[in-house]
Amino acid sequence: MNPFLFITFLIISLSFVSSHVINPYKRNEKDPEWGCLGSNGPALWHQIDKSYKTCKGIKQQSPIDLKVEDFTNSTKLKLNVIKPTDLILLNNGHTYQVQRSEGTIEKPALYEDATLKVDGETYYLAQYHFHMPSEHHIEGRDLLMEGHWVFKTLSNPDAKLAVLGVLFDLGEHEEPGLKPFVNIIDKKPLEVNEHVNITTSLTEQIFKKVKTVYSYIGSLTTPPCTEGVRWFVSSDVQSISPSQFKSLKYVLKYNARFTQKRLDIGEPKSHKPWKPMISH
Ligand SMILES: *[C@@H]1O[C@H](CO)[C@@H](O)[C@H](O)[C@H]1NC(C)=O
Ligand SMILES: *[C@@H]1O[C@H](CO)[C@@H](O)[C@H](O)[C@H]1NC(C)=O
Repeated sequence: MNPFLFITFLIISLSFVSSHVINPYKRNEKDPEWGCLGSNGPALWHQIDKSYKTCKGIKQQSPIDLKVEDFTNSTKLKLNVIKPTDLILLNNGHTYQVQRSEGTIEKPALYEDATLKVDGETYYLAQYHFHMPSEHHIEGRDLLMEGHWVFKTLSNPDAKLAVLGVLFDLGEHEEPGLKPFVNIIDKKPLEVNEHVNITTSLTEQIFKKVKTVYSYIGSLTTPPCTEGVRWFVSSDVQSISPSQFKSLKYVLKYNARFTQKRLDIGEPKSHKPWKPMISH
């Protein structure tokens, strides 16, 4: 082939390929829009799309107001993590989320090496992300931020979900694991659907510090509000510094759902919370 023609051919085919590269971390544009404020906010999620009807609050929705006296110690919970590598930080339009670079936004690759074990079941970390202010309340008040470590069992197709919620409040000390997040945000906040590689020890730091948790059966706190999620909300509040708070608030703005009706007084009893002890 004539070298000129060959190069032209190469350029055309490369641009064809690149215009068809799928960004695995991009949200599906057909997904109905929802937000945390105004006309597409949490009170109206169930009206936005048929698939969000569970958000109306049928049985066991999250978050809830947690009261210390409700909880008694019972089953043991085990958190394990070996330094996860190959992480990306992603702005998905609702929150900043960390997941492995393998997989997609809908189905992140699971971390074989970050697990939560409870009642003979092993859950693997899929991703974690942040809400401001906190979604769970403790004794009627919210805190500045809540991180959600979302775990799944390997059983397919109906993997079970567990979430570890960790509450953050303003304190003297910064959270060392959040430094890389703040560095990225302070340099240039991510556009929606944009991602960057990130190296952070936040999961290791947090798993070490969580000692006791409030546990109950609830739901995802964002559409489609799927129920049957095992919740473990840390009763140990973590500290973030004022400057870390400012940077995170700048990008997360307001992205929390309001607390849901608690049904542990009536039926179903499955909403009844308990407080497992953690071993490491
Ligand atoms: C419950 O857990 C607390 C620590 O959070 C511990 O001090 C207490 O002894 C435990 N109670 C029982 C009955 O195991
Ligand atoms: C991000 O990480 C991936 C996977 O490890 C690597 O292939 C890529 O070169 C990294 N990108 C940057 C900008 O460092």
